[in-house]
Amino acid sequence: MTETTARPRVFVTRRLPGSGLAGLRDAFDLEVWPESGAPPREALLAAAARSDGLLCLLSDRIDAALLDHAPRLRVLSSCSVGLDHVDLVAATARGLPVGHTPGVLTDTTAELAIALLFAAARRVVEADRFVREGRWREWSPDLMLGRDLSGATLGVVGLGATGRAVAQRARALGMRVLGWNRTPRPIDGLACVSLPELLAGSDFVSVHVALTPETRGLLDAAAFEQMRPGAVLVNVARGGIVDETALAAALRSGRLAGAALDVFAREPLPEASPLLAAPNLVLTPHIGSASVRTRTRMADLAALNLRAGLRGERMPHCANPEVYEGAQRARKARGETT
Ligand code: DGY
Repeated sequence: MTETTARPRVFVTRRLPGSGLAGLRDAFDLEVWPESGAPPREALLAAAARSDGLLCLLSDRIDAALLDHAPRLRVLSSCSVGLDHVDLVAATARGLPVGHTPGVLTDTTAELAIALLFAAARRVVEADRFVREGRWREWSPDLMLGRDLSGATLGVVGLGATGRAVAQRARALGMRVLGWNRTPRPIDGLACVSLPELLAGSDFVSVHVALTPETRGLLDAAAFEQMRPGAVLVNVARGGIVDETALAAALRSGRLAGAALDVFAREPLPEASPLLAAPNLVLTPHIGSASVRTRTRMADLAALNLRAGLRGERMPHCANPEVYEGAQRARKARGETT
């Protein structure tokens, strides 16, 4: 009789671009959610319960309740750099390594931030609508006047990889750049200042911090009051960092001249959101990393993380590497050498 070893079971919450999934199919018992939207909560709970590895997206909520439902789960890999949808503390407490995809989306996300800066400064979306609606009657010297980026000051909130990539591009456009980071970091060509100084001194503010309990609502009504009258806000990080009701009010009152948002507290944006009626606001549907090359790289990296984790190897990008130290201590305590 031949002995068969069951292959680890893997659940992937969406079809992904690239060849990463094919590689997983060769090595594991792979199940991919077949529908176009996210698996509903019940389906996700059931899949997690029968899986050794889970590959999720930023729209899948991986909380302690789900982890409690998943006794076999050994590896979690998210096809995202941000992990605010994952209860990292609960995962770490269970010794569960969590993979993510930093680095590969930095340039693509920075490019969208710059695109949104231009769109808001030069009223690109409004101008497009103007032409399509047949309202363009003649060339006129005061038609659709916008703002120049060159010579203006950009405040970069959060100096991680994406914030720094935006700062670099802004300098190339002739902007002066101010930066704020919770832990101040010296960066060439950029003045690192306090958040109030950045808000008061910038014509454009671009948000690049992770969403954490400390940054939730960081840009609220008080922050908008501190910004230069007529300033413009761009956010490609996470919606929860900006108080959306306060932003809509600041746009309506003209306190801010414009904004461009790629991310929202609730996604997709609810029909009742005050943002939909706010003036001078450009909205995009969380497409910061949405280029063919980058989404393929993210999927490949997420697959690589998952594969390494299920083979008992260190993931190339683990967000809670302390789980490895914990496992090593446990092995030592048991007198094992490796
Ligand atoms: C991420 O990976 O966290 C980004 O928000 C995707 O665009």
